[in-house]
Amino acid sequence: MSTTPTSFTASAQPVRVAVIGAGLMGREVASAFGRWFALLDCPVRPELVAVCDVNVAALDWFRQVPTVRHFDTDHRALLARSDIDAVYVAVPHHLHEAIYLDVLRAGKDLFAEKPFGIDLAAARRIRDEANRLGRFVRVSSEFPFLPGVQRAYQLARSGALGRIIEVRCAFLHSSDLDPAKPINWKRQSAYCGAAGVMNDLGLHVAHLPLRLGWKPTSVYAQLQKIYTERPDGKGGVAACDTWDNAALHTHAQIGGHDVPLTLEMKRLAPTETNTWIFEALGTDRGVRFSTKEPKTLWLFRRDKEQWWEKTDLGFGTPFKTITGHIFEPGFPDILQQMWAAFLAERAGLLGDRFGCATPEEAVAHHEIWAAALTSQRDQSVVSVG
Ligand SMILES: NC(=O)c1ccc[n+]([C@@H]2O[C@H](COP(=O)([O-])OP(=O)(O)OC[C@H]3O[C@@H](n4cnc5c(N)ncnc54)[C@H](O)[C@@H]3O)[C@@H](O)[C@H]2O)c1
Repeated sequence: MSTTPTSFTASAQPVRVAVIGAGLMGREVASAFGRWFALLDCPVRPELVAVCDVNVAALDWFRQVPTVRHFDTDHRALLARSDIDAVYVAVPHHLHEAIYLDVLRAGKDLFAEKPFGIDLAAARRIRDEANRLGRFVRVSSEFPFLPGVQRAYQLARSGALGRIIEVRCAFLHSSDLDPAKPINWKRQSAYCGAAGVMNDLGLHVAHLPLRLGWKPTSVYAQLQKIYTERPDGKGGVAACDTWDNAALHTHAQIGGHDVPLTLEMKRLAPTETNTWIFEALGTDRGVRFSTKEPKTLWLFRRDKEQWWEKTDLGFGTPFKTITGHIFEPGFPDILQQMWAAFLAERAGLLGDRFGCATPEEAVAHHEIWAAALTSQRDQSVVSVG
């Protein structure tokens, strides 16, 4: 039986958003905005008004988006425009700091992409400038907006798990297993950063434990470079010098105890395509979620007998939508939910919903990667921060 929506967001004041970096993620954001009417109770509405990319061909796709009125190839020209409120920047990591600082100094709010600067020092400088200028800044990390992850987060923070025994957070890819895959900027340290896969996939695994206050205090890192060269796409080969896989064995203080917390980020994990995993086991209860089973939540219960129970969740996203409650959400849905959270929090209307990753959390995740690089170099356990 279908119900008729009783609320809608169309009357909300539009926030004029610009995108710098019209690549993979720039297009995803345009798509999320294009079906904003799917949201029922979002108090704020974005309008994509301007797009910038140094590659003029990348702008062409955006010419079909009716709200876009400015097409620029120089981000400073875009930032000089007065009819822009907030800017989303999705460019290679070596450009984050310079462009993020330009956005802030132009008086615009910023939705940054991870890893929020190429390294820890850059992340700290961006955070400090945002604080100095009083701009609203958040960082992209969409997996916590899945209904299963929201439930896992609520259970973990409620204390119902008992004494936490261990935590595992992972984000696994497999497309790099193909040695014929041509190189791109994400596989080169100069553009991706010395932290390699940790810069690329790391905020996704660190966001939830950091939000729960489970910050690693020490780390032992196992980092791997597996393919050291790749086709350059022009008939030759190019050096591929980033860390491909990272397994970080950390300790975090949880409930006054030292708890093993594992962070895994892998580009060469056989068969895994964008598999995001969170598992927290306690003495009383446990929770397990993976995008491999995107609608399924696993809950452990200790009774006379011990049980893993599973349930299929529906479309229980933080912001309500027109989508039928038994349907399953996917990547475009959680990206839209994340944007709704960004815009609502910016307007002071987030309420008790989950907020996007903060600059402090982004700096904290870089502190873990900096310690991991030292650990790998010295083959030792290293304190974080
Ligand atoms: N949140 C997520 O799930 C997610 C997924 C993929 C990538 N990312 C992040 O998004 C960012 C971009 O990644 P992508 O996959 O979209 O990359 P991409 O290579 O597909 O796109 C980057 C775009 O930036 C443009 N660009 C380069 N220099 C520029 C400049 N000076 N001014 C304007 N545009 C410029 C390029 O021409 C390109 O079109 C990175 O920080 C990456 O880590 C996030």
